[in-house]
Order: sequence, then structure tokens, then C-alpha cells
Amino acid sequence: MQSTKRDTPRPVRLKDYKPHAYTIDKVDLKVSLHTRQTRVAASLHVKRNPLSVVEGGPLHLDGELLQLEHISLDRAPLSRASYRVTDSELVIDRVPSAPFTLDLVTIVDPEANKALQGLYRSRGIYCTQCEAQGFRRITYFLDRPDVLARYTVRIEADAEEAPVLLSNGNLVERGMLDRGRRAYAVWKDPFPKPAYLFALVGGDLSSISSTFRTMSGREIDLRIYLEHGKESRAHWAMDALKRAMRWDEKRFGREYDLDHFKIVAVSDFNMGAMENKGLNIFNDRLILASRETATDTIFEAIESVVAHEYFHNWTGNRITCRDWFQLCLKEGLTVFRDQEFSGDERSATVQRISDVRQLRALQFSEDAGPLAHPVRPETYIEINNFYTATVYEKGAELVRMIATLLGAKDFRAGMDLYFERHDGQAATVEDFIACFEEASGRDLKQFMTWYRQAGTPQLLCSFAYDKARKSAELKVEQVLPPTPGETRKKPLHIPLRLGLISPSGREIEVLRDDGTTVRDGVLEVTERSHVFRFRDIPSRPVPSLLRGFSAPVNLSIDLSDRDLEFLIATDGDLFNRWQAANTYAMRTLVALVRSLTAGKRSTRGGAYARAIEASLRDRKLEPSYRAEMLRLPTEADVARELAHDVDPLLIHRAHRQLARLIANTVGPTLERLYDEMTGHGPFSPDAASAGRRALRNTVLTMLSMRGGKADHTRLAQHYSAATNMTDQAHSLNLLCHIGTPDTAAAVAHFYDCWKDDHVVIDTWFAAQAQAPIDTTVALVRDLTVHPLYAMTSPNKVRALIGAFALNNPVQFNRPDGAGYSLVVDQVLALDPINPQIAARMLASFRSWRSLEAHRQQQARKALQRVARVPSLSRDVYEIVTRILEG
Ligand code: BES
Ligand code: ZN
Repeated sequence: MQSTKRDTPRPVRLKDYKPHAYTIDKVDLKVSLHTRQTRVAASLHVKRNPLSVVEGGPLHLDGELLQLEHISLDRAPLSRASYRVTDSELVIDRVPSAPFTLDLVTIVDPEANKALQGLYRSRGIYCTQCEAQGFRRITYFLDRPDVLARYTVRIEADAEEAPVLLSNGNLVERGMLDRGRRAYAVWKDPFPKPAYLFALVGGDLSSISSTFRTMSGREIDLRIYLEHGKESRAHWAMDALKRAMRWDEKRFGREYDLDHFKIVAVSDFNMGAMENKGLNIFNDRLILASRETATDTIFEAIESVVAHEYFHNWTGNRITCRDWFQLCLKEGLTVFRDQEFSGDERSATVQRISDVRQLRALQFSEDAGPLAHPVRPETYIEINNFYTATVYEKGAELVRMIATLLGAKDFRAGMDLYFERHDGQAATVEDFIACFEEASGRDLKQFMTWYRQAGTPQLLCSFAYDKARKSAELKVEQVLPPTPGETRKKPLHIPLRLGLISPSGREIEVLRDDGTTVRDGVLEVTERSHVFRFRDIPSRPVPSLLRGFSAPVNLSIDLSDRDLEFLIATDGDLFNRWQAANTYAMRTLVALVRSLTAGKRSTRGGAYARAIEASLRDRKLEPSYRAEMLRLPTEADVARELAHDVDPLLIHRAHRQLARLIANTVGPTLERLYDEMTGHGPFSPDAASAGRRALRNTVLTMLSMRGGKADHTRLAQHYSAATNMTDQAHSLNLLCHIGTPDTAAAVAHFYDCWKDDHVVIDTWFAAQAQAPIDTTVALVRDLTVHPLYAMTSPNKVRALIGAFALNNPVQFNRPDGAGYSLVVDQVLALDPINPQIAARMLASFRSWRSLEAHRQQQARKALQRVARVPSLSRDVYEIVTRILEG
């Protein structure tokens, strides 16, 4: 059984942080692996914490779901009266004031562990997941990130079941026991680390290997472990790893520190991947890739996740977090680093566009609803609920804003200082910011508010040109909408990058009225309202604001359709050119929804299609960029823009209508592009080839929406002619989405092809769950008892339930509430098994208050059904409480 709430769970608060009275600086583990009874012998070197100001007192060690077999202190067994065991702690009343050794033997049951925290088995492989608080399910410990220890780990297992035995650091010794029946290995990690970075793996795994020569000439052994027979699918991940290692040396001067770097791919994993020191563990869907089995999106994700986890070696591992409130210190910073890496490896503009799309989709919607929280939260009940888009994506935006405000040189100097000063430490956001202040001489006090204050600021701008004076004025007002528990907001320090474009399409030099230039075009907004004045402007320009999305805000400026068309045609900042197209599309979609609401017909959309047509045909623009120009805002994007009284069905209709209008208006251009982008020659996952496929597939979407007979034929042929998973999966999704006479055959065919591949088959589950048709709810229910589905596999739950709740707004938000019931049933069934995933699924309700009244009513009923359950996990309890109250 998992930990469940008995009384109301108690929140943890940032302001209560204090160093622990004790610390543990050395850990010796002997782990004897058995499916149901793994024996963990831990020898802990405990001492008084020199940083603590309080007296020693009783020693409280964290521990959950452990069976304590033995306990001794300095080799003397403890009497039963001298310690207490609860379901979350081991308490020893009296311990020496001098350093001592605590020896513990605990028994754990990996096979029964379906929460996938601590030690568990995934398709026969023993593995661990300790972040955030999983180590306490392996042995009793001070399971907090500011307790850093050196680990030596001896692992023993049945030699046939687990010939491969891995842990962090360097291999010291390995061999056989018991006349070859048992294998053992000893690993030693020279770097002190918090328990959440501990990892252990045992199993019958295959591997591929390679080497990397670091900038100082050291040769690193690289190895990826995975299921037998899948070796050829790991080469892309290996390639990405080497590119990431080189990039971190070049861009940040960071060299790898151990002699070995290992990655293990496992099937059952709550997250995408984990940065355990020297032994990263990955969800296998983010390692395995081949032309036949992985989409370009997956190739790209593998590259960025491999890089992300590798980058943690410096931002997370060498410098870790003092406490879990500082999570953005490692995650936001590391996301920033992986975004920069992907931008350098691919197209920086397209990378930025997709990061911004993702930020808006996930983080802005979180910030606008009951689950809004600051990048550095001040309180939590279950820390697993705070691995959010706000901590990650907005956290990355804050680092990006610092880089924008300081400029590249001072930013790098601040990073260098951070690495130098805090190496080996458990740091805070304040420590991080202080490095940039010192390196640049700038005051970032007001900037700190970004970390403490939730919500997405609005920047209300208006621009006026004075022909007589040849000057212009930009008024900027920052409005900070209230969020749950936080009504009064302080003004933020916002970098606002701007450009001014002359009527002939030229970039005008931005001169303030006092004659000073604006460095990199970045204005700094610090007050609630500003007026910026510019001079020497010969004719009325069009402002291009928030270039590169220089701050995570909602910008509004009263540009006319003509202005947007002008920007789409001329803006030299390609990010903003895309932004103009996106704004135009959104404006059109909102107008279409409003006419549908009023029961009127509208044919708006032709102008938008014509505005982007030139870009679509512009050969100077990369295909991947043109694909972004063509891709419409999603239905969820439109719902977020509307914010109130949302009817997902009307949005869906408006969305289809616009796609159809585009296909009707610029059909010949699209048809030509479809042919032109057809792949010839061998497959390559590189960005340029992927971009051509992306453009061709986006075009296919538009043309298929038109729904003519020829369009359906093209779509069916696209599916059957596909020679790679990008094309196959895209057309399968489209067939399910649109529903054509060919849909059923394709679904059956895909199943036949991929039923034996547990990674690829998830595409089949998701495609069906996303179909916006009335039969989907019943189908998804049926699929939850399909032999290839398993509630114990997070990937399956995400593919089926997650895809339904997040990517099928029409059916999830059915007026009869059947979509909500389905998800709530699954959440409640899952909660006793895997509360972390159950809570994530429940969070798909986070925008329920923006719905129209009837659906709100249905959603409330569904949520109340969860809230009434007496034995909820802390995870689900916290989410349901916040969602209902906020
Ligand atoms: N440290 C996290 C993994 C993690 C998160 C473990 C929550 C335990 C609880 C890892 O570095 C991470 O951030 N992974 C992301 C992918 C990344 C590219 C953003 C993930 O797993 O989604
Ligand atoms: Zn991370």
C-alpha cells in the first residue's frame, strides 16, 4: 500500500527551512537483489551538522514501506526500547554527540512497487528512482537534498537474472559468488551527492558503447544499456550525448568529471528521465529510435532530454538544491541549457517558436487557473506535484530574461562565478542571482519578484507616431492578474525587446528621445506604467514588440490587420514574423467562435491564408519554419485566449472551419508544397530533413481538413506509402481525427504492424483516444482492458488517458460529463497504485473554471467525487483540493 492521507496532510513551508541537526557524510550499501525480498544493508556515518545551530536531540530518519530487520549503533545492536518506527520515520532517542556509525538492514519488495519510487522492477529489470523522496523507500535516511554523502555500493543478484549490476561512480570490483550462481559488483562514487541522485540497476541488459575525449584530453567511456535486440535503436541517443558533452564544454566551459557515463533505458518510468550521478535512467521511449519506429518529434525529444539530463551533471549534481523549494534552480536552469543546445543544433528560431508554443500551452494555462504557483513555491504538500511547467518552463524563461538583461558576456561571467563558487554545494535561488549581480554590477532585487509571484503579467501597449515631430511614443502598462491566495501583486522587472520597421520594410535604429540607443533593442519595464519616447523616425513605423518572446507575458497592442500582414511579410525578426501570423490566426479563430456563438455564418479566414501564402512559398525560409507559419493555434490555445465561458465544441468547429478556409484559399500552393517536400533518398533524422517532413505533414493536415474525395485519397495514400514513423503516425492521427472511410483499416493495420512493440503501440492508443467523435469515451473504456494496456505502466496511462484528457477537448469536455467520469474513474483506480501519475492525470482538469456554466457544473461534480474519497494519496489530495478551492 502507498502512503495515504490519514489526517489532513501537513504542508511543508520554505520559511521553516533549517539545516538538519545531523548530517550523513558516508554511506555503504550492500544490496542483495530478490524479486520480493531485497535486502539492503546500510552503514551510515552520522555526525552533528556543523551548519546546524540547534542541539542534537533525537535522530529522525525518513523511511517508508520498509521492513526493518536489524539496527545497531557503533556495532552494538539497539534495544527495542531505544528506537521507534512509524510509517514515515525511524526515531532514535539518544545518539552520541561524536560521529557514529548506524547499521541498518531493511527489506523491500521491488515487485510490489508500482508507485515506481524507490527500488522497483520494470519488465524484469531492477531499477531505482529516488528523486524527489524515493531513497527513503530503500533505507532509512536523511532524505533531503542538503545532506551530501559519498556512496559505496555493493550489489549482488542471481547471475542469470541480473548479470549487469550498476550504480553511480566507478566500478571497483566485480565477480561471481556461489559457484557462478550469483554475480556481484562494487561501485564507488567519489563525488558527494544527495540521496535523490543515488541509482542502482540490475538486469539482463544489452549495451552499446562509445568514447568521448574531453577538452582536457580525458577519455570517457560512454554506454547505453537497453533490452537485447534493440541495440541499433540507441545510436541516435549516443550521438546526441556526445554532441551535448561537446556543447557544454564550448558554451559553458563545463567538462564531464567521471571516467564513465552510463544511461539505462527502462520501460516503466514516471517521468521522462533522471540525472542520477554518472548513471542516468531513462524512460525507454526517450532512448529508442529508428526510422521505422520513431517520429521526428521523438528524435528531437531524445536529443534534448539526453542533453538535459547530461547538463544536470553541473546544474543539479555538482551544484544541487538546498531544499525542494529551490527546484527551479536546477530544473529551470537546465531547461534553459537544453533549449539553447537544441537551438544551436537545429534552427534557433524554430526552437524558440516551439518552446514558446509549449510555454503558452502548458505554463500560461497553469498560471491562469487554480494550480497557479510561483516559480519558487513557498509551500507544498507533495513535492512531486511541483515538477510543473511553471518550475520548468517559466523557470527557464527567468534564466533567459537574466541573459537578455545582462547580455551574453555578463551572463556567462555570472554562470562561471556560480560554478566556481557553489561547486559541491546545495544552493539557493538567492545564491544564483547574487552571482549575476556580482558579475554584472546590476541590481536584480526587483527581478527576484519573478521567483515569488505567480501569474502571467499582461503588457498593455499602445504605439503612436507623431509625424510633425518625427517621433514616436510607446506606452506600456503592466497588469498583474490575481492568482489563488495572491491578490495584490508587485510590478516586475520585464525586458521588452523591440524593433521599429519602416514602411519600406527596413529596420529603423531605435533612439530614445535623449539620443541614447537601446542596447540590443531591449527596453526595461520596471514600473506599472511607462512611456518610452523615440526620435528621428522619418515615417510611421510598425512596432515589432517582445521580439524573441523576451519575457513570459501576454502582450497586447492594437495593431490592425494591415499591420499584422505587414509584419508577416517584412519583419526581419523571424520569431516575431511567426508571432504576427499566430496573432492573426488567433484573431481570426476568436472571430469565428464569436460568430458561431451568435449563430451567424462567417467566412473570415481568407485574408489570413493570403497573408501567410508568400511565406509558405518563400524558398529562403527553412521548411521547418514554414511549417510553423502554417500550423494553427490549437483548440486549447483558443480556449485559453477566450478565458471565460468556453465551449470546446464551438472552438472545434471554428478551428475546422479555418483549416478548411485556408485549404480552399491557398489550395494550389499547398498541393505544390506537398509534392515538393516529398522525401527522396535515404532517411535522415537531421533537422533539415525533419523540417521537410514537418512542412509536408502540416500541409497534409490542411488539405485533409478540406475533406474532398481527392483529399481523403491523398491522406490514405500518405499512410500506406509511409516509409518512416513520422509520416505513418501523422497520417494515422489525422485519419482518426477526421474520420474517413479509410480510418478503420489504418487503425487495424497499425495494430498488426506494431502490437509487439511496447513503445510504438502507444501511438495507436493515443490516436484513438484523440478522435473527437462521440464513440471515443466508450472506446477508451474498452481500451483500458485491452491486453496491451496496463495501468501499472505510466506510458500506457499517458498514451490513453493523458491523450484523451489533454488532446481531445471536445470529448473530454462532453456536456453530459461522460469524459470527466472516465478520467475520474481512472484517476481513482490508479491512485492506490501510482499516486504520482494519478495526480498528473487529475491535473488535466486545471482549466475547468474557464468553461461555460453547464460544463463547469459537470466538472465540479466529477472533482467532488474525487474529493469525497477518504483514502486519497497526498498527491491526489493536494491537486483536488487546490483545483476545487483555487
Ligand atoms: N530530475 C528530473 C526527473 C524527475 C522529475 C524525477 C520529477 C523525479 C521527479 C529530470 O531531470 C527531468 O527534468 N526530466 C524531464 C525531462 C526534461 C527534458 C524536462 C522529464 O522527465 O519530464
Ligand atoms: Zn531536469
